[in-house]
Amino acid sequence: MHRTAFRTLSLLGSRGQGALLRRYFDWWHRNPDPWRMGTDAYEQAKYAATLTQVPVRPYRRILEVGCSEGVFTGLLLDAFPDAEITGLDISERALARAAERVTGHDGRTRLMAADILTFASDQPYDLVFCAETLYYLGRRDRLKRASEQLTRLLAPGGVLVLVHPWPEARRLHRFVSAGPLSQVSELVENAAHRPFSVCVYEAGTAGSTGAG
Ligand SMILES: C[S@@+](CC[C@H](N)C(=O)[O-])C[C@H]1O[C@@H](n2cnc3c(N)ncnc32)[C@H](O)[C@@H]1O
Repeated sequence: MHRTAFRTLSLLGSRGQGALLRRYFDWWHRNPDPWRMGTDAYEQAKYAATLTQVPVRPYRRILEVGCSEGVFTGLLLDAFPDAEITGLDISERALARAAERVTGHDGRTRLMAADILTFASDQPYDLVFCAETLYYLGRRDRLKRASEQLTRLLAPGGVLVLVHPWPEARRLHRFVSAGPLSQVSELVENAAHRPFSVCVYEAGTAGSTGAG
C-alpha cells in the first residue's frame, strides 16, 4: 500500500487507524517473510550496520518495535545474550511466526501484539529499536505521538535506535531529534540501492537535564 494510503488511514481516530493497520498487516503477512527480511542481502547488511551503531553497554531490557516475524529479534538474542528482548508488532500473524523463529532462547523473548501509538509498559527499556515502521503511522500528529512514545519507553540513560530510508528519515526522525534525547550518532548509508539512516539517541541519566 502506498504511503499516501497510510496517511489517509491516519485521518481516522487512533483506534480506527490501529484496527485497520492490524487487519492490513495480518493480511500482508498472509505468506511468510513478505519483505524477505530473512534472506535479502540488503536487509542483512542493514541489520549488521544497525548493530555496529549500538553503544557497547550491558543492556538488560531491549524492545524492538515493529518486529514483524522476528528476523532482527533473532539477531538481537545472539548479540545480547544476557538481555531480555521484547518484540512488539501490531500483527498477531507476524508474531506467531516470530514465536517459531525465536523458540529455544531460554525464555528470554516476549512477543507482544500492540500498537506503538497506544502501547504502555510498566517498566522502561535500556535499548529500543524501531526500524522501517514510522512511515506507516501517517500524518504529523501520529508521528509525533509515536516519537513521544518511543522516547517515554526509555530508562534513564537508555538508547533509542531508529532506522529508516534516507532522506525520508530526516522527516521521520524529526520529532525524536527535537525532543529531550541527545543524538549520539547518525550513519547514512548512501551506497545502498535504497539508502538508509541509522540514528542513535540517548536519554539523560537521573540528575542530568538531557540535550535537545
Ligand atoms: C517493514 S516491517 C519492519 C520489520 C523490522 N523492523 C525490520 O526492520 O526487519 C514493519 C512492521 O511494523 C509493524 N507495524 C506497523 N504499524 C505498527 C504500529 N502502529 N504498531 C506496531 N507495529 C506496527 C508491521 O506489522 C510490520 O511488521
